[in-house]
Amino acid sequence: MINVAVIGFGTVGSGTVKVLLQNSELIKERTGLDIRLKWIADLDIEKDRGVKLPEGVLTTDAYKAIDDPEVNIVVELIGGKTKAKELILRALRNGKNVVTANKALLAEDGYELFKEAYIQSRELGFEAAVAGGIPIIKVLKEGLVANNIIAAYGIINGTSNYILSKMTKDKIDFNTALAEAQVLGYAEQDPTYDIEGIDTAHKLTLMATLVYGIPLYYNEVYKEGITGITPEDITYAHELGYKIKLLAITKMIDGEIELRVHPTMIPDNYLISRVEGVFNAIYIRGDAVGDTLYYGRGAGDLPTGSAVVSDIIDIAKVCSNGKSYAVRMDNKAYKIKKIEDILAMYYFRFSALDKPGVLSKISGILGEHDISISAVIQKERRKGEAVPVIVLTHLAREKNVLEAIATIDKLPVITTKTHFIRVENQSIG
Ligand code: NDP
Ligand code: HSE
Repeated sequence: MINVAVIGFGTVGSGTVKVLLQNSELIKERTGLDIRLKWIADLDIEKDRGVKLPEGVLTTDAYKAIDDPEVNIVVELIGGKTKAKELILRALRNGKNVVTANKALLAEDGYELFKEAYIQSRELGFEAAVAGGIPIIKVLKEGLVANNIIAAYGIINGTSNYILSKMTKDKIDFNTALAEAQVLGYAEQDPTYDIEGIDTAHKLTLMATLVYGIPLYYNEVYKEGITGITPEDITYAHELGYKIKLLAITKMIDGEIELRVHPTMIPDNYLISRVEGVFNAIYIRGDAVGDTLYYGRGAGDLPTGSAVVSDIIDIAKVCSNGKSYAVRMDNKAYKIKKIEDILAMYYFRFSALDKPGVLSKISGILGEHDISISAVIQKERRKGEAVPVIVLTHLAREKNVLEAIATIDKLPVITTKTHFIRVENQSIG
């Protein structure tokens, strides 16, 4: 018998409990494991969570569950950093295995937790922390374990994908789409983590540590959110054959690793650009397997609960037969490429006065910075007034791009700061 304590009976906690209880027969049949839900701890144990519970499992005292000698696996689902960290450390030091969905805690402060798990020879599962119901951690640590990973790209924040999809479909602006996401309960009341790329960067940090064996380099991830994307950008991207998505990107180039999160234009005939609404998808290219794509729900009670229970089952197997499935954190000393050093294609939206010679001035400066143009759109004619000039480039060095823009933005004919979006159309499916 494996005893489980769930701490935090909110969205993911209740999903986890539902999956554990409703599918208990199936789990037993498939794995031979007898998993018992011994405790559920939450601050509010009166609230109806839509699930019928066995007698006596509810408590308001998380320590009662974590300190219970019979408990084998503690599942931390309260979120936040300080208390969650304290509870996880206490559980590990008590000899418990731990499962968590807490991507923010692990990405920003996970070193100490993984170290403690190692010291205590206990498991720390986090399948639910990346892409909710998509078993991407298992894919990386088991399914693709025999591959060198060449690149991984993910749409791993459902809220921002919903906002960008809505802006694209309904031709509405960012704030209107965000308000809709909040009404539907997709975005938090404070949606900063979602729209500024922070949540995506947390998840990328966790993925990259498995992909390349690097430490949890959250602070090295380049982060840019979606707040600057306009309906015009989406329309021009469409005309050029692209969609705009908030992508998490990691790839190894010449022995250096790129870790970046930013709005990205991707060809609209690629499978990943068809991922709409709150859905997530992760594209991975391995040297043996080639291109692979994983798609599903990145959040929500049951999808995330499904991932939590998968960790519980893996750890229950360890408890039963001693075979470890643990992720052992590596410490490989790869250099992380600075964003200025990346090579990418670029989309520029210049706001320029409609005067003779403007385009040649812009293209001249781009040329001086070794930036070659692949497409230009300038449709509107408003003599003497500002009009958008859209330019798509071939591969260019970001450092050159930043310098060229700084020079262009000083031209008297440029009326507002130039906006740019990175474009990926190589090695992505
Ligand atoms: P919720 O806020 O819905 O649930 C958290 C629950 O924990 C609340 O009921 C909260 O009570 C309770 N809680 C807070 N502090 C304590 C404590 N000290 N002891 C016992 N219970 C406590 O959060 P979610 O379920 O949405 O998220 C949980 C974790 O899962 C987070 O780390 C989140 O990032 C992650 N996650 C969430 C996903 C989702 O779809 N929601 C998807 C993937 C990961 P109260 O409300 O009274 O504070
Ligand atoms: N806020 C997150 C999202 C929840 O929108 O994807 C799941 O991690």
